Amino acid sequence: MTGINKITLVLVALFASTAGSHALAADLDGAKLFADKTCVTCHGKDANTPIMAGYPAIGGQSAEYALQQMKDIKSGARKNGQAEAMKVVMQLVSDEEMVALAKYVATLEYKPGMAVSRLEKKDAAPAAAATPAAAAPATPASAPTAEAKPADSMEEQLKKIAAAGKTDAPAAAPVAAAMPAAATTTPSAAPATGEKPAAAMTGKSGEGKNVWMAEGSEREAVMDLKPDLKNGLEVYEVCSGCHLGEGWGKPDGTFPQLSGQHKEVLIKQLADIRAKNRDNPTMYPFALPEAIGDEQALADVVGYIESLPMNPDNGKGEWAEGTPEFTKGKQLYADNCVKCHGEDGMGKADKFYPRIDGQHYNYMLRQFEWIRDGKRRNANPEMVDQIKVFTDMDMKMVVNYASRLPVPKDDVAPSTDWKNPDFN
Ligand code: HEC
Ligand code: HEC
Ligand code: HEC
Repeated sequence: MTGINKITLVLVALFASTAGSHALAADLDGAKLFADKTCVTCHGKDANTPIMAGYPAIGGQSAEYALQQMKDIKSGARKNGQAEAMKVVMQLVSDEEMVALAKYVATLEYKPGMAVSRLEKKDAAPAAAATPAAAAPATPASAPTAEAKPADSMEEQLKKIAAAGKTDAPAAAPVAAAMPAAATTTPSAAPATGEKPAAAMTGKSGEGKNVWMAEGSEREAVMDLKPDLKNGLEVYEVCSGCHLGEGWGKPDGTFPQLSGQHKEVLIKQLADIRAKNRDNPTMYPFALPEAIGDEQALADVVGYIESLPMNPDNGKGEWAEGTPEFTKGKQLYADNCVKCHGEDGMGKADKFYPRIDGQHYNYMLRQFEWIRDGKRRNANPEMVDQIKVFTDMDMKMVVNYASRLPVPKDDVAPSTDWKNPDFN
């Protein structure tokens, strides 16, 4: 296994501790937040060993600058480069927490030469040599420490600037004002639902095209492999950082539930994400062969996920049975969804139609919108066709209904308190 699993150990008990704290920034422990909020998964434990070349080293960054970047990435004001990868995670971080994190990051030491991706280092050794010259000069507040970036990050930025014919350097916001503002209590942001999807990340194979059934995909090779569940558990460790040890994801829809999903669907989605036929910038580096292994590893982790019981209480839409919205959603579902996802929401494994009963409402809403609007490029074209006339309200009502489909008792865990013994 790679070093990623080591970081995961820090992450295991993670989201349990993230629930709604309204403490003032001064009371918050930046180091703990940095681990709890998954920052370590991408930026590294020391904030200077990013998981991917192209992800920034942020240790030693100026607090004002770091805070502004976090805010901008969260709000979508900054959507250049790979900001999309971090955006989902920022929905879990409040203003107060951002201040604590920014202060913490600023206390860390910038280590020249550390900021080289572990993954790329392994595969493309020469890139490591391209580390920017050391000797970081004193950084003016609110200006990015350009020297603190890994080589590829610089290169990407430069390419962008050249392509756009203009820089998108931060607009040196009035940071002094930004700091105290964070002391006011802002409720933790809502999940990334309903947001207009931002530009797809740059990619290799499937970029920009709709590829529902990619040819020569790993999907075919993985399907018949016999899973090794012991290795599956080992691989799943890194996944548990976001999807949780139980595979339940988050009811707020940030991370989908994986438990209960058909093996065929899991394999197709993972193969699609790896091949960049489905954009998932948050998860992409964790799904790569360099991170988790080859086709056998995919079969193993999917085998492991299959062994997990489902969440008895998934995130649901707001309209209970008996409301007009529920009834309208039910009708829409019968007319438009049943033929593929089934009356019970079970989908069809052999056709790669996902199971959607028990899935979190906000996650489904996001996917539905992306499928409707062509942003989820591995979607079934027939489904796109079927739902393209849906208004936003139709969409909410039908997904509300889907989120309230009863899940068979045999498929769910004995209680909502159930914990996966492998992780507890
Ligand atoms: C899923 C991966 C991922 C996670 C998790 C993540 N980040 Fe990031 N972060 C990125 C990427 C990628 C960028 C660069 C975005 C770009 O290309 O413009 C970035 C940029 C930043 C920047 C701006 C750096 C600069 O020099 O402009 C800061 C500050 C930052 N992250 C802090 C955090 C903190 C704090 C957390 C935890 C709350 C976090 N990140 C979680 C991937 C991640
Ligand atoms: C840094 C967080 C993160 C990590 C680590 C992560 N995922 Fe994900 N995963 C996500 C997010 C976010 C989505 C949903 C993306 C979207 O909204 O399109 C997702 C989606 C998925 C899906 C598609 C689910 C569906 O219903 O279509 C599968 C399958 C999946 N992940 C499996 C895994 C596996 C296996 C691992 C470990 C090898 C893993 N993930 C690691 C964040 C993560
Ligand atoms: C022609 C068949 C078809 C129809 C009709 C259809 N779907 Fe789908 N749906 C699919 C397939 C196939 C996928 C997975 C696409 C992929 O592989 O990325 C999917 C994906 C989804 C997802 C994302 C699931 C996940 O785990 O990421 C949701 C939510 C969804 N459909 C809801 C609906 C709803 C609600 C309707 C009716 C309004 C509907 N679908 C109609 C075939 C269909």
